[in-house]
Amino acid sequence: MKIVRSNPDLYAVVDGWLRDGKRIALVPTMGNLHAGHHSLVALARERADAVVASVFVNPTQFGPNEDFSRYPRTPEADAEGLAASGCDLLYLPAVEALYPYGAEQGVRVSVPAVTDTLEGAIRPGHFDGVATVVAKLFNLVRPHVAVFGQKDYQQLLVIRRLVRDMGYPIEIVAAPIVREASGLAMSSRNQYLDDGQRVRAGAIRETLEWMAGRLRTSPEAWADIEARAAARLRDAGLVPDYAVVRRAEDLADPQVGRDHELVVLVAARLGSTRLIDNLRVEV
Ligand code: PAF
Repeated sequence: MKIVRSNPDLYAVVDGWLRDGKRIALVPTMGNLHAGHHSLVALARERADAVVASVFVNPTQFGPNEDFSRYPRTPEADAEGLAASGCDLLYLPAVEALYPYGAEQGVRVSVPAVTDTLEGAIRPGHFDGVATVVAKLFNLVRPHVAVFGQKDYQQLLVIRRLVRDMGYPIEIVAAPIVREASGLAMSSRNQYLDDGQRVRAGAIRETLEWMAGRLRTSPEAWADIEARAAARLRDAGLVPDYAVVRRAEDLADPQVGRDHELVVLVAARLGSTRLIDNLRVEV
């Protein structure tokens, strides 16, 4: 696997691949890679001739009181893991490569509507940061296909709208959530949890399963299911930011009898760690 840090070095490799008619896949990441990320690379490998992974802790998607400075950075281990999972090129830029005018002064890309709710409402500016950096990565890498994890469900919808609205000729592939044995969705933030918190975090997956089961038999009771799900999380010692039932397509409230593709989403805090998870449900 080749590692490049500068944009000219990235262009040189990608230009060569494009001249050879290769199909290119991109897996954007913030590093500190785990089995979930490696599954994204494996999916990319199946769908392309050449796989690029980016590792970049993107400052513009973190709020002022969030964990940007303490976000785990493990570039050596990331490079080893990526090489082992079949990545061809690791793009490891410094902030200046992606934000030549500085993180505050650069062009911003903003995706409206779908970002008004849930993570977008709780983390103002977060999705502008995500859309901005992903647009830059698309422009630099010029992939035919890009793979994103379904754990960040709202992010996936934001990326799909970005691609359609900006006319990027890029296929977006959603990779299934990879879970630890306890059911906890894999996340770089799981390492902030102590042993007791890790056990309690299992309540998130249990609550999502409970919500899905109740919805299948009583979809009309979705608002009551939300309230009871939040109570279940609180009983398990978590502080829920939300436990909601939404239409899968655009995160609008479900219309009973009309919407059949739903998603249940939870965000909850355990101490200073914030975890998110979701489950698709057909009713
Ligand atoms: O999902 C992530 O890790 C990040 O939001 C992404 C897509 C790499 C953009 O920084």
